Amino acid sequence: MKRFRTQVGIVGAGPAGLMLGHLLHRQGIDSIILENRSQDYVIERVRAGVLEQGTVDLMNDVGLGTRLNREGLRHDGVYIAFAGARHRIDMAALTGGRGITVYGQNEVVKDLIAARTAANAQLHFGVTDLRVTDIEGPEPRIVFNRNGEPYEIACDFIAGCDGFHGVCRTSIPHELLRTYEREYPFAWLGILADAPPSSDELVYSLHERGFALFSMRSPTVTRLYLQCAPDEQIADWPDERIWSELETRLSTSDGWRPNQGRIVQKGVTPMRSFVAEPMRYRRLFLAGDAAHIVPPTGAKGLNLAVADVCRLSNALAAYYKSGSETLLDQYSDTGLRRTWRAQRFSWWMTSMLHKSDSDNPFDHQRRLADLEYLVSSRAAMTSLAESYVGAPLD
Ligand code: FAD
Ligand code: DHB
Repeated sequence: MKRFRTQVGIVGAGPAGLMLGHLLHRQGIDSIILENRSQDYVIERVRAGVLEQGTVDLMNDVGLGTRLNREGLRHDGVYIAFAGARHRIDMAALTGGRGITVYGQNEVVKDLIAARTAANAQLHFGVTDLRVTDIEGPEPRIVFNRNGEPYEIACDFIAGCDGFHGVCRTSIPHELLRTYEREYPFAWLGILADAPPSSDELVYSLHERGFALFSMRSPTVTRLYLQCAPDEQIADWPDERIWSELETRLSTSDGWRPNQGRIVQKGVTPMRSFVAEPMRYRRLFLAGDAAHIVPPTGAKGLNLAVADVCRLSNALAAYYKSGSETLLDQYSDTGLRRTWRAQRFSWWMTSMLHKSDSDNPFDHQRRLADLEYLVSSRAAMTSLAESYVGAPLD
């Protein structure tokens, strides 16, 4: 058994784990990041694409803004479409100049891995059989195998940044964890296409046939989503069917429609709301998807993960500087408040913009009334804009 020691053992090299490692390194705190997938897999998986203003500000503040500022697409507004018309919500005008930036999660992850490598800090991919042990005591440990050899890392703290299916949350005694969950009777079929975006801003659309979302990744790549069944088989969706459905659900009476191109990636994303509380057990702290999941409508998942690790790194820095545990003690409560705000927003956006098989005609009319109110009331638009651009980081 090879034995090592670190101040903070980080499980998971998604955005939460990698960002936490970067923030700790800048504070002079030692960490080891352990990931069970390969580096290529982690970089290439296609996921979120919208960064809140606070996430962009943090990336800039911690020296990760160069490529983001060059390649990211800053948006001041967003479109909501229904009944054949698009309505623009001017987020910047309604929030004192705040906006969002389209920059793929895989680009964020690439920048974080490059920073970790440049700092010569420990990051290990492809570990197996990882478990956290001794979490009751003052020196929790992470055990795992790497290249067929067993390892043990003794830590002051462990950060569980290992996503919804990770092992850290389930290591907390069951009776001490309360969970809240809601599954949705639909999913998203997402594609990436080699097609220049036909709109400068995102379009969230409710159509009689269901939800569709127009987004992008770059001036030459469009990202699109369609509401589908949770058990949808990709094989049932040849490219022509996808384009025909997108065209039907997204085209508006002003002549706008998405540009078509070669589809380079397809996938189905399930939709779930989930919260675990507390986000801490003794010296084990949960961050990101390990602690909470939001349905993707509203683009909060990645941003919540970043907010968690920003708070956690500040709390750990205060502890190492002065011995104070005040911020560590507040980590969970503060995080849960932010999480529930994002849960409410994501649930509301999802309910307003999706159709469900159990709907009756009343539900559809109520949804349209919700949308009409949204796009005709400055107060309602301000409310959406505030949540969409995100609250400043704590
Ligand atoms: P993750 O990115 O899940 O990272 C956790 C890491 O831990 C992973 O790399 C995993 O391999 C690793 N890990 C797990 N178990 C172990 C273990 N036992 N040992 C070591 N490592 C482990 N959000 C949006 O806003 N918009 C979207 O369109 C969107 N699409 C999504 C599509 C999919 C398929 C998924 C799953 C999520 C999507 N999200 C989306 C959510 C967003 O991507 C997540 O909120 C974000 O990735 C959270 O980051 P994280 O670091 O907390 O978790
Ligand atoms: C994207 C994903 C989202 O969940 C969303 O609400 C907006 C955009 C995207 O992948 O571009």
